[in-house]
Order: sequence, then structure tokens, then C-alpha cells
Amino acid sequence: MHRLSGFLRIVLLLVTLVTLCHARQQCRLVSKLDVQPEGSDPQAPLSASPTSSSQTVSQTASASATPSITPFNYGKDTIRGVNLGGWFVLEPWITPSIFENTNNSDIIDEYTFGQMLDADYALDVLQNHWDTWITEDDFAAIAAAGLNHVRMQIGYWSIPITSADTNYTTSVTPYIAGAWPYLLRALGWAKKHGVHVILDLHGAPGSQNGYDNSGQRGSADWAQGDNVARTVDIVRFVADQIGGMIDVLELLNEPGGWQSDIADVIGQYWQDGYNAVRNATGTSLKVMIGDAFLGVDNWDGFLTYPDAQGVLMDFHEYQIFNYDQLEMSQDEHINYSCQVLQTLSNYAKSNLYTVSGEWSNAITDCAKWLNGRGVGARWDGTWQSNQPTFGSCDGYTGNMSTFSDDYKKFLRKYFESQVAIGEAVQGWIFWTWKAENADDWSYQKGLEGGWIPQDPTDRLYPDICSNSTS
Ligand SMILES: *[C@@H]1O[C@H](CO)[C@@H](O)[C@H](O)[C@H]1NC(C)=O
Ligand SMILES: *[C@@H]1O[C@H](CO)[C@@H](O)[C@H](O)[C@H]1NC(C)=O
Ligand SMILES: *[C@@H]1O[C@H](CO)[C@@H](O)[C@H](O)[C@H]1NC(C)=O
Ligand SMILES: *[C@@H]1O[C@H](CO)[C@@H](O)[C@H](O)[C@H]1NC(C)=O
Ligand SMILES: *[C@@H]1O[C@H](CO)[C@@H](O)[C@H](O)[C@H]1NC(C)=O
Repeated sequence: MHRLSGFLRIVLLLVTLVTLCHARQQCRLVSKLDVQPEGSDPQAPLSASPTSSSQTVSQTASASATPSITPFNYGKDTIRGVNLGGWFVLEPWITPSIFENTNNSDIIDEYTFGQMLDADYALDVLQNHWDTWITEDDFAAIAAAGLNHVRMQIGYWSIPITSADTNYTTSVTPYIAGAWPYLLRALGWAKKHGVHVILDLHGAPGSQNGYDNSGQRGSADWAQGDNVARTVDIVRFVADQIGGMIDVLELLNEPGGWQSDIADVIGQYWQDGYNAVRNATGTSLKVMIGDAFLGVDNWDGFLTYPDAQGVLMDFHEYQIFNYDQLEMSQDEHINYSCQVLQTLSNYAKSNLYTVSGEWSNAITDCAKWLNGRGVGARWDGTWQSNQPTFGSCDGYTGNMSTFSDDYKKFLRKYFESQVAIGEAVQGWIFWTWKAENADDWSYQKGLEGGWIPQDPTDRLYPDICSNSTS
């Protein structure tokens, strides 16, 4: 606790008060409200404004006289944002140093980080990381770059649900808890700098996809046992505690719908999670769901008005995680972006407001440990044998000092082709703001290196998708 500033202590105190309050069921962070549905447009009620009650709570909970932030007009204004990847959920490829410093190559994710290290040491490292990886200066830089949103990841193990809030276990062993007050501090920074927040449950009990970015690499057991029901309690708790301090709550990142047990439960989970959030907060807080790798067309008519309101669809757009995508030429990558644009805009026309919520400038999977700690890349054949290879990884990732002028020129064009996707729907969120050593994935380095414009509405290729689509 010696690292915590006075401000953070105040936030902690408030959290404690709020938690006590919550446990006694004497007060709610956000009171219920009813928004009268208007018209029959499935998306119309989305622009409902937060009530004064949630505004008051935001100001109280951020514990300082920060200026109030104008509610974002979803559907009318375009989301332009970055993810704050690798902050409250570790990813070995974003911060390899944290993993290297353990001297233990069996530590491959946040789960094993908690499991295999001395708890005091692990907490110390994590607190230092939570305190330094993203700071208020980053929020200022994000706002200065013309971005209006951050998407912030949180793992279930960081959410301080108590046994009064759930009939399921509250144990998070072996994860190291403690990120929550740092998250609350960040919400204050976001507000101060006029940046809107999508809070994204990135890791659920059991792991919803088996990726290290869910907290635990290996099998995806989320659909087993009580995990799904427990997750509904967790999102209700989040909505109840901080629903007035965030703009959007994303119920779960990237559930692995390729697994039949997950595909079987995901629709009901979106519905139950939606109900839980609505019951806790009324309609000012937006709810985000994802396509679960099943394609947006799988969700035609799902959670649209009047069955639901204020729901957004998150689609993730990467072009590097299979051999068919890796073998595309640079021109074909641009073409691919333009095809995604068509698919998403067709869906969004009669369905949920749609956001391209993760994408990057990478056209290779070369970033060190991108496929997992100790795992190589498809691109250069250092991972799987008897598969196509595409050459050396040199000059594609790592330090931008190795990037050629031609490559940087392409990165700008590729960036614009993917921005075009989000601009054709309700917005876009780049993955990610910073990475220790993967500049093709870094918005910050893109600004510095010139392949990401200082004003995200600037275009060198204004008609990039006008010829390449059907
Ligand atoms: C890892 O090894 C280095 C060099 O021997 C040492 O300084 C450091 O304390 C070790 N870290 C841990 C977590 O044991
Ligand atoms: C826990 O179970 C009791 C008894 O069935 C029920 O009244 C209560 O609402 C449940 N609590 C939660 C948080 O679901
Ligand atoms: C939300 O409220 C509705 C109506 O009161 C109720 O039927 C439903 O069970 C609640 N859902 C959750 C998840 O609390
Ligand atoms: C773009 O992709 C479509 C569908 O794969 C293909 O038919 C078309 O030829 C491609 N165009 C270019 C310029 O590569
Ligand atoms: C990237 O390379 C430049 C030039 O060699 C060097 O000055 C800089 O420290 C490097 N950055 C990182 C993060 O290693």
C-alpha cells in the first residue's frame, strides 16, 4: 500500500463505504430509471442520456472536482478509441519483461504468475505494473490524439464481489487480486480527460477461450459447472458498483464459440447478463456483446429493440491468425478490410450498433510470444511444422527502427482501410495503446512513427474501399 497516492487512498475509502453500503442493501450506486422507448428503430433508444443520479455518483466516486463529461451519443457520434491491453490483464507478448523477470518459463499467463510465485513478490510486481503501465499522461495523450474512447480490460479475479453478492464461490485462487482501486483511479482520469470508457470483462472463471489473454492459457472451461452463472453475478456486481462511472459494460471478451459447449450457452449468457445489468442500472449504461467467433450474421435480430435496448455488438478484426490470412499480399489485406466493412455494415443496418473493437496494424504473427509465451510464429515457421512459411520476421515487428519506409507507408494505408471499417459502422478501437516490443501493434508508436495520423480523421486514402468491394 506504500505505493498508493493520497488520492488513491480516498478512492479506496470510498470503495469501502460503497461496499458496506451495498452489503447492507441500503443504497445503490445507480438508481433505476425508465427510458421511454421512441419509435421502432431497433437502435433508437441507445442515445438515451444518463440521469443526474448516475452523474452525481460519478463525481462522488471519482473523489475530486473533475469536470463532468458529456454523455457520448452512441450511434450518432463515431467511437474512435484504443484498447489499454496488458494493463489489468497481463499478456506475455505485451509485457514480456514481467514474465522474463520471473526466471520461470512455466509462468505463461496471469494464472501461473499467481500460482508459481511468492504471493508478496507477485503482488509487488503487479502493483508496480498497475501503477506504471498506463498513467494519467497516457489518458492525456489518448485524448490529444483525437480519440474519444478507451476499452479497458479487467479479469474476474480483480472484481471484489462478496458472498453477499453471489451464491457461488468468491475464491479467485491462485490469481492475485488488487487491481480494482487502480481501475477506479483510471476511471477518474478518463473522465478528467474527456475519454469515454468501455469496461471489458476479459477473463471469466474457467477461461472463456483458453487464450493467455483470458488469464489462463489452456482449456476453455467457462461453460462448465457454475462458471456461467457466477459470471452473471459478477457483471451484475460491476454494473451495480460502477455502472454510473463507465459508458459501456462488455459482458465478456471473445468467448470461444468454436467449442460447442460455449456456443450452446453464449446466447443465454448475453441475455442473462443483459437482464442483470439492466436490473442493476436502468438503461443509461450501454451493454456490449460479441459475436463469439460465430460471425455477426449469426446474431441477426438478437437483443435488438424492443426486446432489449442500448446493446452494442463487438467484432474483432484480425487478419493474421490462420495461414490463409497470412499468405495474403499487402493489397489483399486492404481488400480483406473492405470486405469486412461490407459484412459489418450490412449487419449493422438492421441490427445492433456495431464496433470494430479490436484490430491492429500487424500483417504477421511475428510479435514475440503473440501466440503464447515460448511459442513461435506461423509466419517464419518457428511454430508449427509442415505448414507454409512466408519468410523472415525481420522488419515486421519489434522496434520500428527496423521498419522500412515502404512498410511504414503500407502500415498507414492498412490503418486507414481498417479505420474505414469502423467509420462505416459505429466505431473502431485499435489494439493496443502500447506494447513493450511490438511496434506494429502500438498506437503510441504509430503516432511517433507517422503511420498513424495525429488526427484520426485525416486521410491519405479517402476512397480506399470504394472500388474493391462488390
Ligand atoms: C531472476 O534472476 C536474476 C539474476 O540471477 C535475479 O537478480 C532475480 O532476483 C531473479 N528473479 C526472481 C524472481 O527470482
Ligand atoms: C442466493 O440464494 C438465495 C436463496 O435461494 C436467494 O434468495 C438469493 O437471491 C440468492 N442470491 C443471489 C445473489 O443470487
Ligand atoms: C431482472 O428483472 C426481471 C424483471 O423483474 C426478472 O424477471 C429477471 O429475473 C431479472 N434478471 C436478473 C438476471 O436479475
Ligand atoms: C478482393 O476479394 C474478393 C473476394 O475474395 C475477390 O473476388 C477480388 O478479386 C479481390 N480483389 C482484389 C483486388 O484482390
Ligand atoms: C529502438 O531502437 C532505437 C534505435 O536503435 C533505440 O534508440 C531505442 O532505444 C529502441 N527502443 C526500444 C524500446 O528498444
